[in-house]
Amino acid sequence: MDDDAPDEALADIKGRQIGGWGVAQIAVGTGLTVYAMWVGILQPGFRKVPLKLQVPYIPASKTQVQNVMTLLRGRKGNLVDLGSGDGRIVLEAHRHGFNPAVGYELNPWLISLARIHAWRLGYHGKVAYLREDLWKVDLTKCKNITVFLAPSVLSLLQEKLHAELPDGALVVAGRFPFPDWEPCRIEGHGVDRAWAYNMQAQKQRLLGKVSNI
Ligand SMILES: C[S@@+](CC[C@H](N)C(=O)[O-])C[C@H]1O[C@@H](n2cnc3c(N)ncnc32)[C@H](O)[C@@H]1O
Repeated sequence: MDDDAPDEALADIKGRQIGGWGVAQIAVGTGLTVYAMWVGILQPGFRKVPLKLQVPYIPASKTQVQNVMTLLRGRKGNLVDLGSGDGRIVLEAHRHGFNPAVGYELNPWLISLARIHAWRLGYHGKVAYLREDLWKVDLTKCKNITVFLAPSVLSLLQEKLHAELPDGALVVAGRFPFPDWEPCRIEGHGVDRAWAYNMQAQKQRLLGKVSNI
């Protein structure tokens, strides 16, 4: 056996320079891996959703979830999280007495993860995670709605919520506020901030604006 062989091989590798072609190969390889992860794991189910409406998965932090629950204090009835990710807001809502607590989510991996979390914590059958496009679900009977989405979609979502939600509904938005609505309460600071909107007040504001024209 040649005991020096591994050392020689190592010295040989160390001595080699990575040229421009090598750098290009690494860059292309890394790019393809990231793209494959994006398409295969993070964004399946989004093929039919226009690019500008696709919102990536960024889970709410513990503080963000707490702020949402603080804004929902005193409320009862059903709750819907639009784009429910791994289901953390729905679970917490169920713990706070909201019934039924439902999450709509397009990514099947996240739906499975949410169901596993619920099962592990003993909430199997008590919360629901449905694979639905939030733009297509009927919200006419929703009383409490939570939304952790991107600023690019909030303007359009405002219109849907305005058209469908009953007067008594309360909408809580995390991370980013709705562009044209006036919140009735705000909780937290910086990225943890959450805004609560009373639907009746938004509808009255719009009526006031129209009658002033
Ligand atoms: C920023 S994450 C928030 C996840 C969760 N609500 C939370 O706060 O932890 C947004 C989620 O919305 C989902 N989503 C984006 N567009 C959607 C659509 N059209 N229908 C259903 N879910 C959607 C994404 O897959 C992602 O999981």
